[in-house]
Amino acid sequence: MNRREFLRTTAILAGAAALPGCVLFRAKDEPAFDYVLIAEASNVELKPGKTTPALTFNGVAPAPVLRAKQGQRLRIKLINKLDQATTIHWHGIRIDNAMDGVPYLTQPPVQPGETFLYDFIVPDAGTFWYHPHINSVEQLSKGMVGLLIVDEKESPGFDADIPLVLKKWRLDDDGRFLQLSTPRKAARMGTPGTWQTVNSEHDPVIPIPAGGAVRLRLANLDNTLAYDLWIDHPDVQHLAYDGMPLNPARPQVSYLLGAGMRIDAGLIAPSETNVEIPINRRRGMRQERLCTLKTVAATTLVRTNIPNLPANPIALPDINQAETLNFTFDWSGAVAPMGQSGKPSFWAINKKPWPGISAGNIPEPLARLKVDNSCIFELVNTSQYRHPIHLHGVVFTVLSSNKRDIKPYQADTVMLGKYETIRIAFVADNPGRWMYHCHLIEHMKTGLMGYIDIS
Ligand code: C2O
Ligand code: CU
Repeated sequence: MNRREFLRTTAILAGAAALPGCVLFRAKDEPAFDYVLIAEASNVELKPGKTTPALTFNGVAPAPVLRAKQGQRLRIKLINKLDQATTIHWHGIRIDNAMDGVPYLTQPPVQPGETFLYDFIVPDAGTFWYHPHINSVEQLSKGMVGLLIVDEKESPGFDADIPLVLKKWRLDDDGRFLQLSTPRKAARMGTPGTWQTVNSEHDPVIPIPAGGAVRLRLANLDNTLAYDLWIDHPDVQHLAYDGMPLNPARPQVSYLLGAGMRIDAGLIAPSETNVEIPINRRRGMRQERLCTLKTVAATTLVRTNIPNLPANPIALPDINQAETLNFTFDWSGAVAPMGQSGKPSFWAINKKPWPGISAGNIPEPLARLKVDNSCIFELVNTSQYRHPIHLHGVVFTVLSSNKRDIKPYQADTVMLGKYETIRIAFVADNPGRWMYHCHLIEHMKTGLMGYIDIS
């Protein structure tokens, strides 16, 4: 092993070590990248010395980091050992609709004791993630969220590749879960957590190789929070949004990550050892430290270039021919009108709150799109609350906003600010019924959810 390889191995190990007890079962005698994920209740330690009764995949929270290679088939067997139904949604993957993991819409819920085989191709490289799409307030809040990293066909050549999963757990002093949602908060900004972690640890120090080219994969897997991130290093390159490369990379040290959003950032680590690079969350004038990168001796190699990422094979929308559809994200106030299900609905898309779905009752789609047509969605936020809006099945281009300058970029989730209107465009090239919702889970669960039908 030469120095460079050794460095990469140690850096990767360091990354893995930051995810304690990362238990992955790779099925034996089966092709590469096959995994078994066991959904189960499990005690985990998030607060030092305290026991948290989490819901997990494979006993760890957040869930294990899965890795696959671009263009390959990935098979994951889900075994449900919970006492409630579950599914897995592969967030950001342009997947075959039957594998999208949405109960009733794309598959029956996986009942306790049942298994389900997810089997799909991963067409794009990048930082993606996975989570259930049922009883989401509880299942996601309690730990069933993990990264799915799809590696480029050819390695871009970073010296370290470091996933940083951001999540703030709603725990009491003893590590038990507090009430996860209240109607009052669901009707506003959502119910925030109390215990901040990066890769399950509070304020960890994460080793990076001195002098090396470092790729950071920052992922907001929280149900509620938006992170206004600040990386304290003079030259950080923004490499990708939601796994989709920016070409060329853009210099940027601060990022606004809504729930469900990811960025890849690149930097050249200082060549001296023991240099610290804090990553902070900015809150008004204050900064809260999330974690600290710290250089460790690893190599004599001093890099000067941050590698570029190759573009993903996304069809580009034809803006001139595109049909424009308008979606208004409304707040119906704290009046708590009851939906048919008897649950409060505070939010609505085009005046339609999600009425709830079951095997025999699938509501009408918010829109029907013709396969392969280019479309522009105009997203209008009539409220003072932000919404990270996510669309399954496709990757869209964020075109413009009425509030800020946007240099177009591709993504699967976009933060719709207060009273903001954003235009996104995409080619409807993936047939099926695709969820379209706010990723602030309490908003989604109280109405801000629907689906589109591409056929
Ligand atoms: Cu992470 Cu329906 O989404
Ligand atoms: Cu929202």
